[in-house]
Amino acid sequence: MKFVHVDAVSEIENIVYPTPWTKSAFINEVLDNAFAYYYVALDDGKVVGYSGMWLVLDEGHITTLAVCPEKQCRGVGAMLLGNLIKEAASMGAQRMTLEVRTSNAIAQELYRKFGFVRCGIRRKYYHDEDAVIMWLDQLVERGTNNGCYE
Ligand SMILES: CC(C)(COP(=O)(O)OP(=O)(O)OC[C@H]1O[C@@H](n2cnc3c(N)ncnc32)[C@H](O)[C@@H]1OP(=O)(O)O)[C@@H](O)C(=O)NCCC(=O)NCCS
Repeated sequence: MKFVHVDAVSEIENIVYPTPWTKSAFINEVLDNAFAYYYVALDDGKVVGYSGMWLVLDEGHITTLAVCPEKQCRGVGAMLLGNLIKEAASMGAQRMTLEVRTSNAIAQELYRKFGFVRCGIRRKYYHDEDAVIMWLDQLVERGTNNGCYE
């Protein structure tokens, strides 16, 4: 993700998330956060999805993953997640974590397919809802396979 993608990313963000990040939050991530790694999925040059993580020491923390509604259910989300795992592993991460809304069964199933395991609940993480905490361990041992691990 580069600065030029932020408008398109923000448009998708406002549609798919009930509590979207602001445009300036993405600009800060892309330009100023040395621990942040963000990616876009492009279709004919148009942003159709994006993903992001913070990489601190040997841990990757997935901060976002989204696909525009018209392009969902076509493997874009899986591609973006596979890429995040591969990038994190190649930069030395041993494990990855994320928070996901308890009601978001679709995303939890996607993460589960890539080997993420539910490890707890963070109460009121989203103010209006709890978060499920998921972890994926042994990244390097799993290799940098870009596909699902199940
Ligand atoms: C979660 C999200 C990124 C998935 O992206 P996607 O491109 O639609 O997902 P894919 O087509 O790659 O599907 C991957 C897996 O997700 C699950 N999935 C995707 N859409 C689904 C649906 N409508 N119903 C049930 N499971 C679904 C399936 O397990 C699927 O694997 P399969 O194709 O082998 O069945 C997308 O739904 C999205 O942007 N949601 C809104 C934002 C969000 O909730 N992000 C996650 C925050 S933690």
